[in-house]
Amino acid sequence: MKGVILAGGLGTRLHPLTRATNKHLLPVGREPMVYHPIRQLVSAGIQDVLVITSTDHMGDVVRCLGPGTEFGCSITYRVQESAGGIAQALALAEGFAGGERICVLLGDNVFEYSIRPYVDAFRAQAKGARVLLKEVGDPTRYGVAALDERQVLSIEEKPSEPKSNYAVVGFYCYGSDVFDVIRQTRPSARGELEITGVNNVYIERGDLEYDVCRGRWTDAGTFDSLAEANAILGPLENVIRE
Ligand code: G1P
Repeated sequence: MKGVILAGGLGTRLHPLTRATNKHLLPVGREPMVYHPIRQLVSAGIQDVLVITSTDHMGDVVRCLGPGTEFGCSITYRVQESAGGIAQALALAEGFAGGERICVLLGDNVFEYSIRPYVDAFRAQAKGARVLLKEVGDPTRYGVAALDERQVLSIEEKPSEPKSNYAVVGFYCYGSDVFDVIRQTRPSARGELEITGVNNVYIERGDLEYDVCRGRWTDAGTFDSLAEANAILGPLENVIRE
């Protein structure tokens, strides 16, 4: 399995911190934010990693991460020329994936514990996709899952009336068919190719499995969630907890 980290976007909710600096290079705990998803993938046994970021910030991101040797992985880079959504960015990973399965992390997502159990569950899954859910207090900020006891029934992106408190975390596992699914996906009302649209195709096929995230989780895209990310990783001394 290969890993993909999406570290593009404009980070406008963190202005003025992100006027000159890419969001994923802001400090979280003792390291730049983007170190965390790299360490997470390595903790899950993934050593071949693609980092996608914007043209403007690619130089800084490469300077920060280098070839990956110090993390125990090999890092490849691709630029996303314009911010057109998570699924549009992911489409750039097709050549890198080379027909293998992929584990995708959004570069601003921070987890208290290793993602390894969820990646292992996907390794044991015959086909389809796998997502990770977390109960949150403010679901309107996220993709939100409607659930019954056994499966995800649908996912809505930033709903005004959420059907549950379960946010879809920025961790996604896909088979090599994901690139065909992205090609079928149309832009949303906000003009983006949404990862939620991709996941809903897998739901319609009966091919989407899920886990519930253990421990604390946050994204770090707003001032409050950036503070929470620091609270989670601050005491951890750069190691991923098993
Ligand atoms: C994105 C996804 C959303 C997901 C969230 C997790 O939202 O679109 O479905 O719940 O990441 O961090 P964004 O933070 O890009 O608005």
